[in-house]
Amino acid sequence: MDKPIKQICCIGAGYVGGPTMAVISLKCPDIKINIIDVNQERIDAWNSEDLSGLPIYEPGLKEIISKTRNKNLFFSTKIKESIESADMIFISVNTPTKSKGLGAGKASDLKWVEKSSRDVARFAKGHTIVVEKSTLPVRTAEVIQEILKSAESDSSKDNINFSVLSNPEFLSEGSAINDLLNPDRVLIGGDDKEAMISLSKIYKNWVTEDKILFTNIWSSELAKLTSNAFLAQRISSINSISAICEVTGADIREVSRAIGKDSRIGSKFLDSGPGFGGSCFKKDILNLVYLAEYFGLTEVANFWESVVEINSWHQKRISEIIVKKLFGTVANKKLVVLGFAFKANTNDTRESAAITICRNLLNEGANLVINDPKVSASQIEIDLKINSKISLDNENSSLNEESGSWEHSKNISNLEIFNDAYAIIILTEWEEFKKLNWKEIAKKMVHPAWVFDSRSIVDTDEIRDAGLSLWRLGDGLRD
Ligand code: UDX
Ligand code: ADP
Repeated sequence: MDKPIKQICCIGAGYVGGPTMAVISLKCPDIKINIIDVNQERIDAWNSEDLSGLPIYEPGLKEIISKTRNKNLFFSTKIKESIESADMIFISVNTPTKSKGLGAGKASDLKWVEKSSRDVARFAKGHTIVVEKSTLPVRTAEVIQEILKSAESDSSKDNINFSVLSNPEFLSEGSAINDLLNPDRVLIGGDDKEAMISLSKIYKNWVTEDKILFTNIWSSELAKLTSNAFLAQRISSINSISAICEVTGADIREVSRAIGKDSRIGSKFLDSGPGFGGSCFKKDILNLVYLAEYFGLTEVANFWESVVEINSWHQKRISEIIVKKLFGTVANKKLVVLGFAFKANTNDTRESAAITICRNLLNEGANLVINDPKVSASQIEIDLKINSKISLDNENSSLNEESGSWEHSKNISNLEIFNDAYAIIILTEWEEFKKLNWKEIAKKMVHPAWVFDSRSIVDTDEIRDAGLSLWRLGDGLRD
């Protein structure tokens, strides 16, 4: 008999754990959910009375939290109690790429997964279903199983046993709530049919049966990496073609539209941009590369690694174009950067193209003024690894002596941010950047003044009429 789930514990209150549990709490009012985290500050933010203080910005999230928090959804640091009382435990901790040791630069660092599995082994009682939710390298379930086995064989613990399932998350930041409410599919990998049915019953509260797929555990883990690798590969493909457009007189938007009409290719994920960012794409491809190398599949490893290499090259290429167009130097020139998040509708900056492009320009001596509707100055400081203007000579900065400066500007509505700027560089496709008054902005800038649009969001006629020079990614006619 499959086990009815009354209490869930989710370890990790991040971008995956928070929204996923919020949606489960909304759709399953009879299940009590405890989200736990080691980070007290993060938990306090999830519990903040003012819902704009939530640690994650996702459209629709606040509304759900306001309905379920402290009813059947609880945020705390009570690891022991929450694990003890759970019938099902989701592991949603961070798994960044290892920075040192074996597999550095490619393999995922599993120390947080290991730590949370050890906590589960220590505190769980009775039969517990453990669900891998974080994006993980293939065969991570084996690591979790090994750790849990040690608890099962501990004679001091009564009747304790575990079933490990893989249930990868396909949510996309910025549309996480909608993706969770209307998933293309829910993947459940495992070999304990009853545990798989218990998990599927949770989803059946709002997802139709035909969308719930059962697979073996390794297929589930590999399918997650492969999905992300395919999506990232599409972006590297279209971005590589944008470079060809620029030298041949073609236009990447026209090429995208034309190929997207082929139903075998499809029109989604064909927007050229400054290069993919986010916490998943690079990490997942590098995991795939590591796995292929480990099994001696060098050609396979090289194939996937080139997707990441093109992405880095593309960001360097954009930085160089900006410098070239500004007469070969940006030293001491004010450049306004619009957008720092890795895409619109999120405050997440992990692997954002803006980090690389801004650092390249700072290295060339530019004075950047950065605006993003959701990213804070302190986050930008962490990402750029350099203090803003005042402490540019910071010894810890890895930028060279000639490096420029940056400052954060919260407000673009009064247009003061554009005073004396030589160029505006659009790196994130926020709605507010689509509605700018270019005629007024042009009056404030130093001419010849440039707009660099890496997201294809500006109206080209408006820019031309305002007397501004425009560079658009993949626009061969303009180059
Ligand atoms: C991705 C996957 O979409 C999701 O299924 C998985 O669970 C996690 O990884 P996410 O990282 O939130 O989600 O963002 P996504 O919308 O996929 O965008 C990733 C990057 O690709 C962004 O930097 C985005 O700007 C860029 N992108 C996306 C493009 O440049 N062009 C496109 O056409 C689509
Ligand atoms: P993701 O995008 O995968 O959700 P995040 O970094 O946003 O990643 O969130 C992961 C969360 O997991 C962090 O808030 C981190 O503090 C938490 N975490 C990591 N290890 C543990 C652990 N052993 N116990 C509880 N929480 C943990």
